[in-house]
Amino acid sequence: MAEAVQTLHPGHAKFTPRVFSGIQPSGGLTLGNYLGALKRFAEMQGRMETIYCLVDLHAITDKWQDPERLRQQTREAAAGFMAAGIDPASSILFNQSQVAAHAELAWIFNCVARMGWMNRMTQWKDKTAGKNAENSSLGLFAYPALMAADILVYHATHVPVGEDQKQHVELTRDIAAKFNHDYKQDFFPLTEPVIEGTATRVMSLRDGSKKMSKSDPSDQSRINLTDDADTIASKFRKARTDAELLPDTPEGLKDRPEARNLVNIFAALADRTVEEVLADYAGKGFGTFKPALAELAVEKLSPISAEMTRLMSDPAEIDRILGQGADKAAAIAQPILDRTFDIVGMLRSRR
Ligand code: AMP
Ligand code: TRP
Repeated sequence: MAEAVQTLHPGHAKFTPRVFSGIQPSGGLTLGNYLGALKRFAEMQGRMETIYCLVDLHAITDKWQDPERLRQQTREAAAGFMAAGIDPASSILFNQSQVAAHAELAWIFNCVARMGWMNRMTQWKDKTAGKNAENSSLGLFAYPALMAADILVYHATHVPVGEDQKQHVELTRDIAAKFNHDYKQDFFPLTEPVIEGTATRVMSLRDGSKKMSKSDPSDQSRINLTDDADTIASKFRKARTDAELLPDTPEGLKDRPEARNLVNIFAALADRTVEEVLADYAGKGFGTFKPALAELAVEKLSPISAEMTRLMSDPAEIDRILGQGADKAAAIAQPILDRTFDIVGMLRSRR
């Protein structure tokens, strides 16, 4: 991270280093969310100003969500963030819909971004592949403009995400650059995606070519942060692998996606490099490696899941924390939104 801060894009010069990232509360949190996002969110805390958001407006773009369940999942995700080490006293933690500035800035960005840019988004293409795109929500298509608003309404300079979100952060830079150019202002920063570590793309336990996802129909494909020790162990035991022994170098994992995934997960959970893990397990089979991985995962994840259960027993306290976070977030966002509206030429006579 320290390195990323020093190699700021010139566009950052006048912007305070500030981290923003979000997760959709559209289902339970997975090991992919933890390793690709949450664990890294917690590591960035204290080094820079950090703002973390449960993006509930994004959560309804893909499909209809049961309202009470969505509210519950938002609380559960907040509990997951805190259990993973995000401290609401040092980071701002809130849910997106409580800060209206996100949706307001998104409208402006809907008018800056081009249809062609949205059409090129691989997530849009994947989500509508083989289906009738005509029947997808307009919100799903415009989703990256809302994501750009999430980031830029705070003038955030750094966005830690998993590999799958890289293109959306690049689009955020395109939107910022076009806005700055169209209005002849150096107003929005050109934000950097921060994609680091061995687990920026955790794959499904059933299919090494698909990412682990909260929306995969098979629960066996993922580890949920709420899974108990037996479930975690059994899912790793049944994870798809090949029949070969583990190699002594990372190159030996090149054409072995399932094996590579399990070794990456081990390395990320243990805070070690892939080389170090292979130094211990080269020449061993999955009969040895899988139980060791299961044990490590249980050791690292059970305190998180226990803490989530404890936090979830007091939903009113979670709501209070999110409300307070929203107030702090709005205090940063509102002046930036007001300035944007001024730049664009919206008449504001009530101020
Ligand atoms: P989502 O669950 O799609 O809202 O993703 C929230 C964050 O978790 C984003 O930064 C994603 O890139 C990251 N993420 C989700 N799934 C994975 C995965 N399988 N591997 C690594 N990062 C992931
Ligand atoms: N699109 C992200 C995902 O699905 C979630 C997200 C929404 C986000 N707004 C964001 C991530 C802003 C980083 C910054 O993973």
